[in-house]
Amino acid sequence: MIGIFDSGVGGISVWKELYALMPNQDFVYVADSSYCPYGRKRTDEIIERAKKISEFLIDRNADIVVVACNTATAAAIEYLRSYFSIPFVGMEPAIKPAAIESKSGIVGVLATAGTFKGSLYLNTLTKFASNVKVIEQAGDGLVELVESGKTYGHEVELLLQKYIDPFIDAGADKLVLGCTHYPFLADAIGKIAKNALTIINPAPSVAVQAQKVIGENNVKPAGNGGSNVFISTGNIETMKMLVHNINPNISEQNFISHNI
Ligand code: DGL
Repeated sequence: MIGIFDSGVGGISVWKELYALMPNQDFVYVADSSYCPYGRKRTDEIIERAKKISEFLIDRNADIVVVACNTATAAAIEYLRSYFSIPFVGMEPAIKPAAIESKSGIVGVLATAGTFKGSLYLNTLTKFASNVKVIEQAGDGLVELVESGKTYGHEVELLLQKYIDPFIDAGADKLVLGCTHYPFLADAIGKIAKNALTIINPAPSVAVQAQKVIGENNVKPAGNGGSNVFISTGNIETMKMLVHNINPNISEQNFISHNI
């Protein structure tokens, strides 16, 4: 079984890619919605949540855990890898493809404050962004909008405009989505940015990396055609809506509200 978790519903954007690549695997997704957002929480608080959720997934027989949250990856992946014996795959800020593909030499990154302060992000910048100018913007408030099911409309566009316009004004031509909630805002971002920015979402390459790790660790499909269970520590309604937009056939019973 492949365990996936995020601070909330954002990681559904990663499950979407994992499920598309490996439809016959069993997935259990945990949205930590009652503790969301993680973006401005202390590192030790995020580590504690990440550990509890990973223990829960391992108790349910996870062979591997995908940390489908940039903020939790930044805060906790090193700890999780040293504490548990199963493999963990995390999110990578997609600075490398953005820097390679940028024609203007200016790249925008939209992420949470927690992701920007992590050493993973700083190392990625040092490694891959020496030839480009990187403009960083913390997307305060965007996670909360997605959690409440708002992915388009006036309120969403108003807040996005505040974050996206400075990227365009500075001449950026690539926009890295450094938070797994943001792909759900891609249409609204596209509406504001028009053709000025190409959006780069790291989720498809994280799914390819997870598939590689799954292969190396011999995680075989369970033989029942694959199952998908979605657990939330908070409200399940937004999760259900986002999952059903991707696959309307997932049964109501597979959405569970549970304290972890
Ligand atoms: N989806 C999380 C991420 O990728 C959101 C973080 C938050 O809860 O603030 O960073």
